[in-house]
Amino acid sequence: MGESKITVSEELITELIEKALTMREHSYSPYSGFSVGAALLTEGGTIYGGCNIENAAYSVTICAERVAMTKAVSEGDFRFRAIAVVGGKEKTPDVYSFPCGACRQFMREFCDTGSFLVIVAKSAQDYEVYTLEELLPHSFGPEKLGW
Ligand code: THU
Repeated sequence: MGESKITVSEELITELIEKALTMREHSYSPYSGFSVGAALLTEGGTIYGGCNIENAAYSVTICAERVAMTKAVSEGDFRFRAIAVVGGKEKTPDVYSFPCGACRQFMREFCDTGSFLVIVAKSAQDYEVYTLEELLPHSFGPEKLGW
């Protein structure tokens, strides 16, 4: 058996999914009807929540993941460990809602791609776990610019 990629405890994964489900209730998504909630765990153990916020000028819409990440970074908390995402059109999510490309790139800036976990969930009992490396291989990051 290979080593597990999952470096976050099951209890913490459950906590992140429950927080994401709560945040989803705050989603402002009258245009798409697709509501998303996210919960971001930082290295220090703080959890930041986010939901998608749409706009009548559609392109101004911001995804749940980026809301959670901007909340963390703006508080000076910019080392990320994991993020849980729940989304869908139904009251109870019936799909795994994966982060869009822009959100994956945003995450890339603030984490180690091999260990950062993206948890996509329908419920606290029904989820899948990926590393960012799996979702964004051969990525472009700060080290390419000498950071
Ligand atoms: N959305 C997210 O919140 N996160 C993603 O990664 C994908 C898409 C939102 C944006 C928009 O409000 C709705 O889902 C439909 O695209």
